[in-house]
Amino acid sequence: MQDRTRRSADADITLPMVPLRDIVVFPNTMVPFVVGRRASLLAVECALAGDKQVFLSTQRNAKVDNPGAEEINSVGTIATIAQHLRLPNGNVKLLVHGNARARVLEIDEDPEGFLRVVLKELDRPTESTPELQEHVTRVGQLFERYMKYSPGLPYETMLSTVKITDPGRLADTIAAHLPVSIEEKQALLETTVVPHRLSEVERALEAEIEKLRVDKKISNRVKKQMEKAQKEYYLNEKIKAIQQELGRKDERVNEIEEFRQKIEQAKMPDDAKEKALQELKRLEVMPPVSAEATVSRNYLEWLLAVPWAKKSRELADIKRAERILEEDHHGLEKIKERILEFLAVRRLVRKMKGSILCFVGPPGVGKTSLARSIARATGREFVRLSLGGVRDEAEIRGHRRTYIGAFPGQIIQMMKKAGTRNPIFLLDEVDKMAADFRGDPSAALLEVLDPEQNHAFLDHYLDVEYDLSDVMFIATANIMHTIPPALRDRMEVIRIAGYTLQEKLAIAQRYLVPKQIKQHGLQNEQISFEDEAIVEIAERYTREAGVRNLEREIASICRKIARRVVAGNAEKPMVLTAVRVVELLGVPQYHPQREAERTPEVGVATGLAWTETGGEILTTEATRMPGRGKVTLTGQLGEVMQESAQAALSYIRTRAEEFGIDPSFYRKYDLHVHVPEGAIPKDGPSAGITMATAIASLLTGVPIRGDVAMTGEITLRGKVLPIGGVKEKVLAAYRFGTKTIILPRENERDLAEIPDDIRKAMTFHLVHDMDQVLDLALAGPIRTPQLPAADTGAGDPRPSGGPVTH
Ligand SMILES: Nc1ncnc2c1ncn2[C@@H]1O[C@H](COP(=O)(O)OP(=O)(O)OP(=O)(O)O)[C@@H](O)[C@H]1O
Ligand SMILES: [Mg+2]
Repeated sequence: MQDRTRRSADADITLPMVPLRDIVVFPNTMVPFVVGRRASLLAVECALAGDKQVFLSTQRNAKVDNPGAEEINSVGTIATIAQHLRLPNGNVKLLVHGNARARVLEIDEDPEGFLRVVLKELDRPTESTPELQEHVTRVGQLFERYMKYSPGLPYETMLSTVKITDPGRLADTIAAHLPVSIEEKQALLETTVVPHRLSEVERALEAEIEKLRVDKKISNRVKKQMEKAQKEYYLNEKIKAIQQELGRKDERVNEIEEFRQKIEQAKMPDDAKEKALQELKRLEVMPPVSAEATVSRNYLEWLLAVPWAKKSRELADIKRAERILEEDHHGLEKIKERILEFLAVRRLVRKMKGSILCFVGPPGVGKTSLARSIARATGREFVRLSLGGVRDEAEIRGHRRTYIGAFPGQIIQMMKKAGTRNPIFLLDEVDKMAADFRGDPSAALLEVLDPEQNHAFLDHYLDVEYDLSDVMFIATANIMHTIPPALRDRMEVIRIAGYTLQEKLAIAQRYLVPKQIKQHGLQNEQISFEDEAIVEIAERYTREAGVRNLEREIASICRKIARRVVAGNAEKPMVLTAVRVVELLGVPQYHPQREAERTPEVGVATGLAWTETGGEILTTEATRMPGRGKVTLTGQLGEVMQESAQAALSYIRTRAEEFGIDPSFYRKYDLHVHVPEGAIPKDGPSAGITMATAIASLLTGVPIRGDVAMTGEITLRGKVLPIGGVKEKVLAAYRFGTKTIILPRENERDLAEIPDDIRKAMTFHLVHDMDQVLDLALAGPIRTPQLPAADTGAGDPRPSGGPVTH
């Protein structure tokens, strides 16, 4: 057949034409198709009657039923009908073999009713060059790759195709298999220059391969995901089947149902309930063993765990409250009174604004235990949140649920712990809270404490409003000034100063000793402490405003006795005397008496300070060395304290002549004022007179009495101004064994706070200017100094401020 085509390549051929709707037939390919249109059937009949050749050309628009000449592409393929089969419906199924591409020169309608065309063949033999052969090989290999990606084509097609060496034939065969559009195929058919056609086919192949490659990648991924989901589904079903087989009900349904019931019973506010049901709906459709289901379940459990409705029945009986406070704590009369007043008012006014108690005082004075006692007295639950070191807002308010392993904040966690919505909520150590880059926890706390806002507290994790307005918040702190001011404003401050020895004794005998005996599994009959034993412990083994260490030492003794009881060598009953205490506790750490009996020294003054841990004795030393008037201050002194040292110095300079000090001393000497225990930061103006006394003593050479302690602010003109913390300071001096105290006159009213027994045992000098201080503190009259060292002979004090003994 090829022969025939070649032979008549230049001659015009006339053939019946069959227009094709949506296929392009290429030379050298076998194509089956069905013919049904009347004109086409007539053309086929005509061909079958002759040499079985037809001209096949694709119409431009597949939808046109009776295409005219202009609607059919002018380039098509001459084909031989290899087989034909008449179908029952009158159609004919053909299998044709393409012979050669040809162009229509003329087109006529045959009288019988089909189209007859006059054609010119287009295929020309191509000259074979090495480049072309190489191109053929390349395209062949490309086709092979394409076949790998496209499993739809039979293997034999590939084998027979890659064997083709004729470039035109190869291009046509591949073009017939490419899944490109009819337009593209037609364009390939019309490309008569063989190398061009081969290049076009190569390009189309590459594009197809790329498409298939991407497709495959995506479908692989999709497949993997599908497989995973299927696996999970399969396993879940299997678990269900196993459980059913074991006779259990479907646990999943159970779980969801259980949640639903709990949500219904939780008496949540509407929005919380809605949120819970929403979450439950999500949980229902999640695979039960997935990570997100766990997150969802946790969240629901939290929502259900916080107390929404449950309340303790509050005990209204103030008499009872009073009895309980009395039972739990010794002394603290004023404080108990304030607490009872507070409780009474709270009963009368349902929601009191800014009604948060804050206990401020040194460690171990019973702040935490008072709060616990209030809970007992009012019948509420008690929870305690330690804010020491809390520096992250999220600790108060929680992390958003988007965080893996997120939790509600401490407020909500504590509410869960309380189990009721009206507990006593102790915010311990509000003064130790810190702020850093993660946000300021005090801002969150403000919201918690603000009665205007706390009925709708929003925890990041819960994400629904929670009502804190029934909670009674109580705060504790050792010092006031590190509490953020906004927070301080919201609180009603109650100060607890610390205990005297008598009070400590009573607390120990009535509370600490019985408590420790019980805790150590001993019997009250087995052991008793004599008063002098307690005094011994308090004075020589502890130095504190509170009773924490006292309690610890008592515990330590109980432990030792418990050991003897177990070993069977404890005498019964065991009476603890001061001597036994020393035996059991070892060498005492403090020597109160000896310290107070310090000999007078030049430049060393005893001050009184107020610190977080209560009152303190603060020794102040001054020395000088040749120099040029530089003043050095050491011992971690704050700014205010430095200023008051400068004021003290200026005062001395203005009075230099009167005191018999060389007025040009500051040109000859450098001064150094040091306040020992340098590790503890100190601040405040109350050391003013102490420093002035130390400097005056140094420069005059008159020693300072060792048994006098002082506190007061100094002005440039030598006036003495009042200071704070008198009670704590006096108690500290008393503990230290110093019985004579110099105080600013304006602090006289503070003496009323000091327990009678101590007040009676001490001498207070109330002063209003520095001259009086020096008269009282220096161990001799001021006189011209004899440099380099003054003699330290102690002289009689000249009490000119007048001793005040209350
Ligand atoms: N007036 C008192 N009567 C009876 N016991 C007391 C009294 N004061 C303190 N205590 C007891 O002393 C111990 C320490 O008290 P608590 O823990 O309440 O001190 P705190 O003031 O909270 O100290 P911190 O500032 O260190 O937290 C407790 O066992 C407490 O019961
Ligand atoms: Mg405490």
